[in-house]
Amino acid sequence: MKRLWEFKETRFATGKMPRLCAVLALLLAAGCSLCTADVGTFTPCLQFFYRSWPPKGLTGTPICQRFINKYRFATLYSRPRRSPWFSAYLYTVPAGKRPSSSWKFEPQLAYPGGDGNMEQFPPGPLDQNIVESQAVQPDYINSTYSRGHLNPSLHHMSHDTRSSTFTLTNVVPQKEGSNDGPWQLLEQSVNHTLATYCLGDAYVVTGIIPYRNDEHWLKNHRVAAPEYMWSAYCCPKYNQSLPKELTNTFPTYAAIGRNDPNSSEEIVPVDKTAKKQFRGYDVRKMSLATLEMYLKDRFNTVVSVFYEQCTGSDLTENT
Ligand SMILES: *[C@@H]1O[C@H](CO)[C@@H](O)[C@H](O)[C@H]1NC(C)=O
Ligand SMILES: *[C@@H]1O[C@H](CO)[C@@H](O)[C@H](O)[C@H]1NC(C)=O
Ligand SMILES: *[C@@H]1O[C@H](CO)[C@@H](O)[C@H](O)[C@H]1NC(C)=O
Ligand SMILES: *[C@@H]1O[C@H](CO)[C@@H](O)[C@H](O)[C@H]1NC(C)=O
Repeated sequence: MKRLWEFKETRFATGKMPRLCAVLALLLAAGCSLCTADVGTFTPCLQFFYRSWPPKGLTGTPICQRFINKYRFATLYSRPRRSPWFSAYLYTVPAGKRPSSSWKFEPQLAYPGGDGNMEQFPPGPLDQNIVESQAVQPDYINSTYSRGHLNPSLHHMSHDTRSSTFTLTNVVPQKEGSNDGPWQLLEQSVNHTLATYCLGDAYVVTGIIPYRNDEHWLKNHRVAAPEYMWSAYCCPKYNQSLPKELTNTFPTYAAIGRNDPNSSEEIVPVDKTAKKQFRGYDVRKMSLATLEMYLKDRFNTVVSVFYEQCTGSDLTENT
């Protein structure tokens, strides 16, 4: 029943939305301040996707993540799971420390006429429509999962964009062994690789792979936990003199990380010699094609992360 709901929502998004979007775009262009439809369409935030082309094959509720009246990144959200399928963003070389940010929510998920800007959770009891529409802080408190950013704050230069990643629609239940271990090392190595060798825009998409059967949920059966996390980047303009160990990492590269030590080892093998607290949370780096093969297998449909695998005519711009 819940899946059906999401499906209908998607049909709405692909069917009636384009006309509505065109109207909205016109109104926005005319400076209309009432046009706040940041949920249900990626139209206002296509700049976060390579060639303005959101990943194909995954269905859910698009969110243009807006903070302090500026679009910061994009998320494909699942209402039935109360957690995201993926977040997409432009990487910028980070400066300064991780902000100690307060957690935020997306008002337009609960109220279509609500503010398009994400908001801090207010103190005290929460509005029930908000609780129904998304994960809230008590879901994570005392659970066996930490709050795992899909779009991490450390991949951004501006303080406000970093703060904007602290919204629960950008977060999935992630085991600490992954979040503080191999997945964090992946985020740092991507940071280093892109900061050093990417010469133009770097588009990143980070998402999740659900369990095939037997979904895992946070304690109250409200928020679905992923079996794996994945990430891929597309950097069409890069330094051609790459060190040997990075030769296959441009223009695209990808990875899948374990979020459950009990998972089988077919997708990501386990390093049995890893420190106990991180054992079973390995990350396997791989080509974009290999990632897309695993996504196709699990979602039972072709999933394309980047337009033409990020290898299109942009390559000629390098020469
Ligand atoms: C978390 O656990 C503590 C100690 O058992 C309890 O006092 C607190 O109410 C719990 N909080 C939530 C949000 O479940
Ligand atoms: C990210 O890369 C930049 C540039 O190389 C570096 O200054 C910064 O310390 C890195 N941050 C992390 C958390 O690795
Ligand atoms: C490309 O990398 C080489 C070797 O690491 C470096 O010497 C050169 O300055 C880089 N070029 C650019 C445009 O960053
Ligand atoms: C792994 O399996 C064990 C035994 O069935 C169980 O106790 C544990 O909670 C499982 N771990 C996770 C992360 O699901």
